[in-house]
Amino acid sequence: MTTPRRILDLIRHGQPGETVTVRGWVRTRRDQKEFSFVEVNDGSSMAGLQALVTDVAAEALQRVNTGASVEISGELVESPAKGQRIELKAFTLQVFGEADPETYPLQKKRHSFEFLRTIAHLRSRTNTLGAVFRVRNACATAVHHFFQERGFLWVHTPLITASDAEGAGELFTVTSLDLNNPPRTKEGAIDFGQDFFGKRAFLTVSGQLEAEIMALAFTDVYTFGPTFRAENSNTSRHLAEFWMIEPEMAFCDLDGNMTLAEDFLKYVFSYVLKHCPEDMEFFNQRIDNSVMETADNIIHNQFERITYTEAIALLEKASKSFEYPVSWGLDLQSEHERYLAEDLFKKPVIVTDYPKTIKAFYMRQNDDGKTVRAMDVLAPRIGEIIGGSQREERLDCLEQRIDELHIPKDTLWWYLELRRFGTVPHAGFGLGFERLVQFMTGMQNIRDVIPFPRTPQNAEF
Ligand code: 4AD
Ligand code: MG
Repeated sequence: MTTPRRILDLIRHGQPGETVTVRGWVRTRRDQKEFSFVEVNDGSSMAGLQALVTDVAAEALQRVNTGASVEISGELVESPAKGQRIELKAFTLQVFGEADPETYPLQKKRHSFEFLRTIAHLRSRTNTLGAVFRVRNACATAVHHFFQERGFLWVHTPLITASDAEGAGELFTVTSLDLNNPPRTKEGAIDFGQDFFGKRAFLTVSGQLEAEIMALAFTDVYTFGPTFRAENSNTSRHLAEFWMIEPEMAFCDLDGNMTLAEDFLKYVFSYVLKHCPEDMEFFNQRIDNSVMETADNIIHNQFERITYTEAIALLEKASKSFEYPVSWGLDLQSEHERYLAEDLFKKPVIVTDYPKTIKAFYMRQNDDGKTVRAMDVLAPRIGEIIGGSQREERLDCLEQRIDELHIPKDTLWWYLELRRFGTVPHAGFGLGFERLVQFMTGMQNIRDVIPFPRTPQNAEF
């Protein structure tokens, strides 16, 4: 037997006359009089390899149905069929595992994404989810290439933390206490002092605060890891567990931050177009016919930059009627964000200088006393895809803000010390990785761009 090769490799480089072995899962079997066509897919590409199986393997062929796992050896031949350069003339066929046609849920027909979510252990074998996870892989690779090429250090920040970085209170508690009989304080509250970490701990909502520590030693750093939010939002853009990319740069202000965010998105889009052309074409044809245009638009146009105050003025002037009110001081809702990016500017919009009351404690305060040097990147179809800011590097200003918000200072002593010892202007942002993959692929629901989504009432698989 020859060493098995991946199907993508054969489709790209296989030559008629070569003897090869492939392994994978059967998508279809079509029987003709003298032989059968068996289409095999191993996940390496959208297209599978068509094998022509004659009675050399008649017995094994009986056990080959959609979903079965097989190994086929044979000779590559030019394919007379349309749309494929080569096919495989089988010499041998081995079945690893059968798939009963009566019960295997992925028979060749269209399935709704809702249904596919209920079989997340099998859905990656479909064309769409296969394409999604290959594009997701390419996005992740592009992220590392982008930052590594620019000399950023990839830092690993903890998933368990004692502080609420965003101050939004959307935290999952991590505990090893006996929940049926937790220790109590004199006042009757649960005594987290006796818990595993000696204090109450949570799953992190963001690696930013620790990334700031690392940026103040390595200048330019980024994190790329899972984050957790116990926000009870059942929307097509929220997950309870999602991946976030958070660059953090010392000696950098909001302008540098915006430029990085824009360069970054352009780079990732270009990379994915280059490395997953078939998958991107598939999304454009089958999922959303603006996918290619969007990618082109991202790569070739400058993002719009406006302040929050300007954004409010534009929204107040809009002829569109919104469900949620618009007025200075209120947060932008997703409908507002989409109006700006999708209808008005028709490209990503970076909104800066939000009211301090709707943003986190660590953002640098502007001289007007009302706004902070925040930025959100709003994308067509998605709304907020990136949130970031210049950080408050002045100790007195930071302490004053923490006090105003009644944030317990004892959990943040180290964060404050960074402002005491060698503080510098610095900035960074967080990109929601799944929102990026959604944006890129045109997939409607964020649950379909992560293999095993975690959402309210759902932690199956
Ligand atoms: O705007 P957020 O909350 O910002 C931060 O966490 C900052 N610490 C980032 C930083 O400056 N280093 O979240 C950043 C991004 C959002 O723009 C959004 O794309 C994504 O994370 N995000 C979510 N994605 C999926 N599901 C959720 N529940 C999300 N919440 C935020
Ligand atoms: Mg945000």
